[in-house]
Amino acid sequence: MSCVEQLRKIVSRVLTDEPMAGHTTLGVGGPADYFVEVADCDELCLLMKYIASAGLPWMALGDGANILVSDRGIRGVVIHLGEGFERIAVDGNVITAGSAARISRVADVAAKHALSGLEGAGTVPGSVGGAIVMNAGTHRGYIDEMIESVCVVTESGEKRTLSREQCGFAYRDSRFVGDKSLIITTATFALRPGDGKAIEEHLESVRRHRSETQPQGKSAGCFFKNPPNASAGELIEQAGGKGLREGGAEVSPIHANFIINTGSATASDLRNLAERVRAMVRAKHGIELEYEVRLVGEW
Ligand code: EPU
Repeated sequence: MSCVEQLRKIVSRVLTDEPMAGHTTLGVGGPADYFVEVADCDELCLLMKYIASAGLPWMALGDGANILVSDRGIRGVVIHLGEGFERIAVDGNVITAGSAARISRVADVAAKHALSGLEGAGTVPGSVGGAIVMNAGTHRGYIDEMIESVCVVTESGEKRTLSREQCGFAYRDSRFVGDKSLIITTATFALRPGDGKAIEEHLESVRRHRSETQPQGKSAGCFFKNPPNASAGELIEQAGGKGLREGGAEVSPIHANFIINTGSATASDLRNLAERVRAMVRAKHGIELEYEVRLVGEW
């Protein structure tokens, strides 16, 4: 039986040579050999067992909000978690959310239940799973501060629960960045009771700050991590990077840490421009910017 036939026996939706441009907020990226959508955790376990037995490369995809996929695309299987992973349940001060749920939706549910703690992380684009991998957040707080535990499926198809400590959180980092053997399925947040109206206003003010200081359109959010005690956007602006272009890629004139697709960019345009910006910051400030966006696929 062929690989596609095997995959179709396990999961309902299997696409071949699926262009990744439609699955990323940057709107670029070549084809994935196999793009599969998984309905629930049991299906995911079966899928991982098959992938392991067939020795196929794989990667999990959240909202595609923080990745730059190469123009040549991705070899192997891209696993997208479907609606079954979008549930959000509230029990007292604890919220359990599927990893495919939008983190901003979880924050809104928390606010409705007068639960505080997600005002910082709950304003960034992306899914719960993606936000955990990247330890997403803003100056007002990061997602790891509220995590109680994270449920995963391993690459051998077993379910496991990790404590917050086992997740290895740091600034814009977690064990899931380096340890590619785990797929996040749900997360549990231990929140604090608060004043619902004040929480909603807080969320609103963080969202307003974002919309006033960050560009709309096709981007992956901030391209680089902030170096210790510095702002990557400010360093890039001081080095003269604002407004620079390469093909269809542009350093946003609004916020210099956003490298945007003006419509016709390729992944290579975006990467080449990012490298030019890094070189400018190195020359001007002697600082090596680190990518926050994850580069995936065949470069
Ligand atoms: N600045 C400039 N020029 C620029 C951009 C920023 O001079 O082009 C200056 C600002 O004036 C400000 C300072 O740099 O004094 C910090 O800027 P900002 O408040 O925009 O915050 P940031 O450090 O650039 C971080 C997160 C964002 C998050 C904002 C809002 C990182 C890498 N970025 O940006 O997260 O939205 O705070 O709190 O930590 C993302 O998740 O993708 C993201 C963009």
